[in-house]
Amino acid sequence: LIVDGKSYSFPTLEGSEHEKAVDISNLRDQSGYVTLDRGYKNTGATQSAITFLDGEEGILRYRGYSIEELAEKASFLEVAYLLIYGELPTQIQYDAFATGIRRHTLVNEDMRKIFDGFPVNAHPMCVLGSLVNAMSAFYPDSYEGNQNTDLHITRLMAKLPTIATWSYKRSQGHPINYPKNELDYIANFLNMMFALPVEDYKVDPVVAQALNVLLILHADHEQNCSTSTVRLVGSSQANIYSSIAAGVNALWGPLHGGANQEVIEMLEEIKEGGGDVAKYIDMAKNAKTTGFRLFGFGHRVYKNFDPRARIIKKAADDVLSKLGVNDPVLEIAKGLEEAALNDPYFVQRKLYPNVDFYSGIIYRALGIPTNMFTVMFAIGRLPGWIAQWKEMREQKEPIGRPRQIYTGSTLRDFKAM
Ligand code: MLT
Repeated sequence: LIVDGKSYSFPTLEGSEHEKAVDISNLRDQSGYVTLDRGYKNTGATQSAITFLDGEEGILRYRGYSIEELAEKASFLEVAYLLIYGELPTQIQYDAFATGIRRHTLVNEDMRKIFDGFPVNAHPMCVLGSLVNAMSAFYPDSYEGNQNTDLHITRLMAKLPTIATWSYKRSQGHPINYPKNELDYIANFLNMMFALPVEDYKVDPVVAQALNVLLILHADHEQNCSTSTVRLVGSSQANIYSSIAAGVNALWGPLHGGANQEVIEMLEEIKEGGGDVAKYIDMAKNAKTTGFRLFGFGHRVYKNFDPRARIIKKAADDVLSKLGVNDPVLEIAKGLEEAALNDPYFVQRKLYPNVDFYSGIIYRALGIPTNMFTVMFAIGRLPGWIAQWKEMREQKEPIGRPRQIYTGSTLRDFKAM
């Protein structure tokens, strides 16, 4: 292995003298024909026309439309159509898309039997990933015969919200609600979540609009852990349900979609600890000794404000005041942001709030419990995953196969025990 003109060999495993002599983590540089880039941090292996992101300037656009404009003026289904099919829909196209989705919101009753086999306290993301994967079994035309991609896309868009509500209803000890197809996409989801057989439930337009904005903001984010996973799994020609299920599973991790759950738990901890923001800012700066991590700050690509965080912060203020919710963690979050933005430690490291910092506060105000936050992210991200999977197939990308730089033993003689 040649790095900066010096040659190294790695005949033994980690912890060896060789590893001590050479800091392997620095070997992101050119090494022969292969570049070691562990997090794909600087490797463009995909060409995509879906989402533009400029981390230096803090810009995010779907198919050329700014996230600010879409969040203000569009509906989530319009944005889904835009991401998947490349253009904003005409009225006729929109009606056909929305009607198709309405027709497919019911989930096969046999999927309920699979669902019923999960423990009551199973994390909803585990249930969601498993059931999306199980959809291939119910729609075998997704992997054999003449694959009608548009039909599978419609089914996924239609059924994900239905499945997503099941875990919540069961955690409450309530029967699940069947879809009400006279309602629109968001109202239907809210109705399945919150309607009870014993009383009338009316969707609050403030809640519906807040959810519309949140789903749009989460709808795509170019290549990231879950999206690249969807493309990679799909590149083996795995069917769309298995590929999207892989994305759901990738999203679950606390470093990805699970982060807003961590944020709300952190904010609660600060509240319980007396709400002294300055103390926690200091603890975050000394994380090595205190072990306290400031979740929801910093982003792998944004060296500026995450544009989604700005929109979400404003939405959090609006929604909480319109709903008359007084959540002390909103003030704590704002206090943390202000303290961090005025502290050279955070400024020099370009650690700004990201999309996860305020989203949980809104979900909570809407009545959505913490363990459902990542599920909400998945509902929002679904059109992005679908668009990326479709684009990858249409571009006829080859099967993904990352190269590796081998650092293990050379040939060893086998000695019997
Ligand atoms: C996302 O929206 O997927 C997250 O910000 C993670 C990322 O883009 O890396």
